[in-house]
Amino acid sequence: MASKRSSRPSRKSVPSRTKKPSSLRADGARVAHERVKTAKRRSTSSARWLERQLNDPYVAAAKSEGYRSRAAYKLIELDERFDLFHRGDAVVDLGAAPGSWTQVATECVGKGGGIVYAVDLVDIEPVSGAKVIHADLGDADAVQALIAGLEHPIDIVLSDMAPPATGHAATDHLRIVALCETAEAFAEEVLRPGGAFVAKVWQGGAERDFLARLKQRYDFVKHAKPQASRAGSAEMYLVAQGCRS
Ligand SMILES: C[S@@+](CC[C@H](N)C(=O)[O-])C[C@H]1O[C@@H](n2cnc3c(N)ncnc32)[C@H](O)[C@@H]1O
Repeated sequence: MASKRSSRPSRKSVPSRTKKPSSLRADGARVAHERVKTAKRRSTSSARWLERQLNDPYVAAAKSEGYRSRAAYKLIELDERFDLFHRGDAVVDLGAAPGSWTQVATECVGKGGGIVYAVDLVDIEPVSGAKVIHADLGDADAVQALIAGLEHPIDIVLSDMAPPATGHAATDHLRIVALCETAEAFAEEVLRPGGAFVAKVWQGGAERDFLARLKQRYDFVKHAKPQASRAGSAEMYLVAQGCRS
């Protein structure tokens, strides 16, 4: 089995929820939690978001390591846990914008002829080693065009797709499960036998039926909540390996 790129970020450089490195100075002294005042034109929720960003060790690590978002660390952890990527793999990254998963995937598969197809309905800045494709997975014609344009048998399909949040948990849950089903239908079309599928879901009940369906199609199916996934969120990832088709 080919080894991964040595330049891929090591686990040591990834912040851990237990250590919270950015809140401690080298001498062990605690750095003050930054508070953000609610300005006239800043709503309480945007002040809360800004405060969380300023105090999030994954945001700081992503900035210093050149990742486009903190989400990079979720995929790094999933890869370490499930050994997803191998040199030369062909990967499709659905819902790829702004591109941090694509960055991680290209680091892992880039050498040895690997390729990452980064797909989203919004624009993505180019990523070296990736082919950026503008497409809506909800549009059947766009999906057929996407499938026709793939030049490789696909080893891994990733979906970090998320619908715009409505704030109504049950609605958001059903919408993301629908995106998972769309992503998996796409994966069935393009994955080589033995390939892998990873999808983000927000828990709420319906994901259990989806998990059961995955078990009929893949040899190994697990769910995982990476440390970089915010503790209070309903987010988790479904990892299916050993596609049987
Ligand atoms: C959480 S972001 C992905 C973050 C990305 N994995 C990263 O690491 O930078 C979710 C993305 O899903 C995309 N998305 C949602 N619905 C989609 C659809 N029907 N087709 C394509 N992309 C979609 C959104 O445009 C958004 O960019």
